[in-house]
Amino acid sequence: MNICAEKTRKTLPEEFLNGIPGNEMNFSKDDYLLSEASAVLCLLGWESFDKGLPEGNLQVSERLSSRPIILDLCKEAYSKGWINAYNSFVLGPTGSGKSFFMNHYLRCCHDKGAKICVLDNGRSYAGLAALIKDENGLAPAKRKSKTVEEFEFNPFAGFLEQGKWLIGEDHLDLDNPSVQFVIGIIKTICDFEDGWTAAQSSVLSVYLTIFCMMYKRETDPVFDDFYTFLVESKFDENGSDNGVEPIDQQLMKELIISLHTYSIDGSHPKTLNSPSEASLLSDDFSLFEVGELLDSSDKTYCKLCIFCIIHSFDLMMRRNVDSFKVLVIEEAWKAISNKDMEPYLNSLWKTSRKYNTAAIVVTQQMSDIISSDIIKDTIIANSPVKIVLDQRECISELDAVADTLGLTETDKRFIRSLNTQSRDDASKDVFLKIGQGKSGAYKIDVSQAEAFLYESVLKDKSELSDTINSGRSVLSLLKRKRKI
Ligand SMILES: Nc1ncnc2c1ncn2[C@@H]1O[C@H](COP(=O)(O)OP(=O)(O)OP(=O)(O)O)[C@@H](O)[C@H]1O
Ligand SMILES: [Mg+2]
Repeated sequence: MNICAEKTRKTLPEEFLNGIPGNEMNFSKDDYLLSEASAVLCLLGWESFDKGLPEGNLQVSERLSSRPIILDLCKEAYSKGWINAYNSFVLGPTGSGKSFFMNHYLRCCHDKGAKICVLDNGRSYAGLAALIKDENGLAPAKRKSKTVEEFEFNPFAGFLEQGKWLIGEDHLDLDNPSVQFVIGIIKTICDFEDGWTAAQSSVLSVYLTIFCMMYKRETDPVFDDFYTFLVESKFDENGSDNGVEPIDQQLMKELIISLHTYSIDGSHPKTLNSPSEASLLSDDFSLFEVGELLDSSDKTYCKLCIFCIIHSFDLMMRRNVDSFKVLVIEEAWKAISNKDMEPYLNSLWKTSRKYNTAAIVVTQQMSDIISSDIIKDTIIANSPVKIVLDQRECISELDAVADTLGLTETDKRFIRSLNTQSRDDASKDVFLKIGQGKSGAYKIDVSQAEAFLYESVLKDKSELSDTINSGRSVLSLLKRKRKI
């Protein structure tokens, strides 16, 4: 702008007095710089006047001055009335820094006492998970690649505790998430090409209702119990032994054939028949690396496993109302975005705030969002916090991104400006929109040790991977690095 600062030592006391609000008329014309406010802001050493929220859960830096600011994407923002839920949606092309940002954000949440569950598709959180284990004094286990058969779960867990899933004597509680989950699981296994009709769905509800009414044992049922119930029930065209209305025989046959795979005698006997109540989530930071699962050819099995993990989190969320919880789904949502699970995911995303929970979906491409109704109608619609990383690689899509995420022209300008200022450090910028009113671009500036931990370039993280794989302490490695 061709403007130079001028030192006015002699008149300093006078300038000071004239600078007191109300005295400005005493300034001479030479002391004025007439310009537009937005242009003059370029002369200041910072970009925003955001003071942040001291109790917030995300530490960022102001981009020009590197001044640290604490922001909040959850409780504080909610208490200010900026957002109506804690869920976030994260978008950025490959290499834009999504995982790095999420590692940093989760570290901040963990430090604030949150319980965290991550479904990861790219081995991006292993360092953070190992560090948190170390810090909690849990011996880091030698890493062994999990075989697909190891997955054990029981979709009927909590059946007795939740009052047998019935309202009154004979009405299935269709609003109960566990009921929605079991229905979703059955529909996922018995996947009809044209989807389930309303009539077929209501027949399934009848089967489940009768199963719930007839179940008398003292322990929760497992999936095989429901399967056996179907096989043993003597439904016929005129009604059954149990006095039920005439039932769809064809559907019954199809169900028995499909569900057999997950019965005790099927090819996946353990998957849905775990006798123990133990949750899949273990400690404060539960990490599920689902990359292998997503690549497996058995898509039904893959969907089931991911649903079971999410349901495990859902149960934990409802049981631990007091502590704050975060669920992160990186790319794995693609496996579960089907119509059969929509009611279940819808209620999880809609009710999460009441249970002190933030659900976060992380994705790379705009086309992913557009192609999935669940992402659009359930996840984006119920995620008041939008986080966008550098979009320069796909700048032509920015208008479409803005339309879908409800971003304004100012928001788009912020996004275009991400990572455009040359800096000495390797840090990257992020755009945050918190509710409708609050948005801004910030720098994610972390310590060297954290940057080492969150690095995703395989060549640079071999030392970290070796440490994790061999069960050595990540904390000691970081301490050693600091000394060097
Ligand atoms: N705030 C940051 N400070 C320093 N380096 C960063 C920062 N954010 C990202 N990086 C670096 O940028 C690279 C890409 O980051 P990251 O792996 O998080 O991208 P991504 O969006 O998750 O990519 P993908 O979709 O392929 O998983 C990494 O090498 C990482 O170290
Ligand atoms: Mg990533």
